[in-house]
Amino acid sequence: MSFPSIRPRRLRTTPAMRRLTTELRLHPNELVLPLFIREGLDEAVPLGSMPGVMQHSMDSLRRATADAVAAGVGGVMLFGVPEVRDAVGSQASDPDGILNRATRVLVDEFGSDIVVQTDLCLDEFTDHGHCGVLDEKGAVDNDATLERYVEMALSQARAGSAILGLSGMMDGQVAVVRQALDAEGFTDTAILAYSAKYASAFYGPFREAVDSQLQGDRRTYQLDPANRREGMREAILDEAEGADIVMVKPAMSYLDVLADVAAESTIPVWAYQVSGEYAMIEAAAANGWIDRRRAIEESVLGIKRAGADVVLTYWATELAGWLR
Ligand code: PBG
Repeated sequence: MSFPSIRPRRLRTTPAMRRLTTELRLHPNELVLPLFIREGLDEAVPLGSMPGVMQHSMDSLRRATADAVAAGVGGVMLFGVPEVRDAVGSQASDPDGILNRATRVLVDEFGSDIVVQTDLCLDEFTDHGHCGVLDEKGAVDNDATLERYVEMALSQARAGSAILGLSGMMDGQVAVVRQALDAEGFTDTAILAYSAKYASAFYGPFREAVDSQLQGDRRTYQLDPANRREGMREAILDEAEGADIVMVKPAMSYLDVLADVAAESTIPVWAYQVSGEYAMIEAAAANGWIDRRRAIEESVLGIKRAGADVVLTYWATELAGWLR
């Protein structure tokens, strides 16, 4: 019988030893909290498919942001749910649209404590629920949509958003938005490009969160879940077009894409742990099937381990609280 002389277990013997030899630690600053502001609410409305997540009123939005700041969360990502929708998503670029109004409120109050970021996409604002405007045949018109993204980008920059999250997956969106921002003097407004955004079933609960009007799917603009190489291609293009940060989304089912992009990118790589990922863990935990806190920590750790510098997660504030 020959016993091993190489024993990896040595470094696992005590909690102190494990703390000392851990390869990765989460930190509150590298978490971003997505928040939903809904027009016309007096108080927050809980989301059935995302227990613990709300459509916020302006007041509850401010309280949620204050809590995130207190927990050390690095940023918030704002999504708007307007009362009125139309074919081109007019409210998205209206300075008095709900998203722009909420941005100004948060930037005024918390802008020096946390990075206020905004989702730049039309789907919450269109009456057909697509991320762009439609042509006469009902297809999403790439170049007509770019013109709307430029208007939306300028209104968000004027409202004070520090990072614009371009999540619409139109070709050339980063280049046109960068050019328009610079031409108007917004040279310091950063662009987060949702580079590898897949047409995913895991966005299901988000559609409730924004009262999505979508019929059909987004497969003509979001990526095919089977395509690993194409995720890399999108990230390379976005970096070349001037993105400051690239994103992979969803996170847990796309850790290979995340690892690829993290290995090649010369700019920060973020990942979005989306609504369905949140809902799965919450539902299993509510049934007593998994340990909620351990599952949350392990899921975010896995996303970081695969290469994310920052993770967008609906658990950001709670998780940050545990980490302190
Ligand atoms: C588009 C957008 C979506 C999400 C973030 N931005 C929805 C979609 O593409 O259908 C999903 C986020 C989540 O599921 O948590 N504006």
